[in-house]
Amino acid sequence: MSTEEVSVTWRSNVTDDEVDDLHARAFDHPPAGNHWNAQLQTHSLGWVSAREHTWLCGFANVAWDGRDHAFLVDVVVAPDHQGRGTGQKLVRAAVEGARQSGCQWLHVDFEEALEHFYIDRCGFRTSKAGVIPLTQ
Ligand SMILES: CC(C)(COP(=O)(O)OP(=O)(O)OC[C@H]1O[C@@H](n2cnc3c(N)ncnc32)[C@H](O)[C@@H]1OP(=O)(O)O)[C@@H](O)C(=O)NCCC(=O)NCCS
Repeated sequence: MSTEEVSVTWRSNVTDDEVDDLHARAFDHPPAGNHWNAQLQTHSLGWVSAREHTWLCGFANVAWDGRDHAFLVDVVVAPDHQGRGTGQKLVRAAVEGARQSGCQWLHVDFEEALEHFYIDRCGFRTSKAGVIPLTQ
């Protein structure tokens, strides 16, 4: 099926179960039963959903600092739907949503294998960043 049949929207309704199921399949872990809507409404600037007809085939979450900086997290496309351009569409909509909301910067971090996706295909510039694992 072509990516033309996928609709991508900013801040449209999603159910906890469909995001949980998509996230579990894309990251290959059991469904976690997360309360996605509570989290999105409380902590997110917005989110992007991709639907093939009614089926949620992609999702991205945009957290923020309440002002200039937005943070792209939880970018997922259903495994059997990957490689059709939906990931790029999700990121494009997240960029536009953050820009329209008045943010100055959209940040993302990722593993090396995803450099081609984020840098070459989605338009991010590389920048230095740091991270501390807080669970160790
Ligand atoms: C990363 C992800 C969202 C990309 O979605 P997608 O719909 O498959 O991406 P696209 O079809 O728009 O791919 C665009 C390009 O990026 C490349 N790409 C996509 N996913 C990739 C991956 N996991 N590793 C390497 N390259 C990847 C594609 O090959 C394509 O390259 P091309 O244009 O040269 O052919 C999807 O693979 C996914 O959900 N992965 C599992 C969850 C994950 O790791 N999320 C990222 C968290 S930071």
